[in-house]
Amino acid sequence: MSEVDPVMVIGASGMLGRAVCEALTAAELKFGRPGPEELDLTSRGSIGGAVLSGYCRTVINCAAYTDVDGAETNVGAAKAVNAKGPMMLAEACESSGTRLVHVSTDYVFGGKAKRPYPVTGPVSPRGVYATTKAVGEKAVREASKRNLIVRTSWLYAPWGNNFVRTMAALTRDRDELKVVHDQRGTPTSAQHLANVMVMLLRGKASGTFHVTDGGECTWYELACAVRDGLGHECAIKPCTTEEFPRPAPRPAYSVLDVSTTEDSVGKMPGWRSNLAGVLERLETY
Ligand SMILES: NC(=O)c1ccc[n+]([C@@H]2O[C@H](COP(=O)([O-])OP(=O)(O)OC[C@H]3O[C@@H](n4cnc5c(N)ncnc54)[C@H](OP(=O)(O)O)[C@@H]3O)[C@@H](O)[C@H]2O)c1
Repeated sequence: MSEVDPVMVIGASGMLGRAVCEALTAAELKFGRPGPEELDLTSRGSIGGAVLSGYCRTVINCAAYTDVDGAETNVGAAKAVNAKGPMMLAEACESSGTRLVHVSTDYVFGGKAKRPYPVTGPVSPRGVYATTKAVGEKAVREASKRNLIVRTSWLYAPWGNNFVRTMAALTRDRDELKVVHDQRGTPTSAQHLANVMVMLLRGKASGTFHVTDGGECTWYELACAVRDGLGHECAIKPCTTEEFPRPAPRPAYSVLDVSTTEDSVGKMPGWRSNLAGVLERLETY
């Protein structure tokens, strides 16, 4: 037992949740991982039952409604998990003196900037997913004093649903592919993010932090790096967002300024080097 653990990981079955459990194991911190049947983020009673029982010192919330396009039609579900759930969780954590680590997204920013978004920059979310995430992080800030909010972007891992695994399969199976080249952002290895979250937690950090891999690229550049890293031979052609209309708007520029995080935990490794590590561990695709 330390000042940090035991930890409760919510959303442990998700892409980031799995990486967080690995990072906690590597750091030799004790943790529990209630499934949605034990802790449903849309139910105050369920949250209270788990958090107020007092077994954990820290809650890490990796759960979210993450279907960005689906949220445009399933507005109620997105609000319940991304906005109201984190608020109820923060209230429960506050009344039990539990530290809360909550994960948010680059989508809280509008996407029109030309330089990386600072932590303190004004949010202007577009679309239902982005709006519910912005409401959720604000609610966490307001309801809980002991909060650590970590914004990240373009998550990928050797497992789960993510762009890197999708491109791995498509560049293996197709001769030709078009990928968007007018949206810039930063890929983030879920394992890197999880390790930084544990470092911040151990350093008793609080407030809002940006955590991504280092550097920036377009989806097209990331797709090419996946293909090349796996030795596939698909011809990838750059295209525009307009050629790929989606129900939810996508930010044209969503690079997060990680400088204050780097002051605390050191330089973020470049995305190409983090990607190479993930490609080596890529699960069946
Ligand atoms: N993916 C990205 O590119 C990206 C980018 C920026 C920020 N983020 C943020 O990063 C965090 C993790 O994302 P992710 O991609 O790892 O998500 P994910 O793979 O979609 O996993 C979401 C998790 O949330 C759980 N969950 C959903 N509804 C729940 C509920 N009502 N109660 C309890 N648990 C519930 C899911 O459980 P079941 O599987 O059992 O339903 C799953 O374990 C989220 O906050 C997301 O907004 C993601």
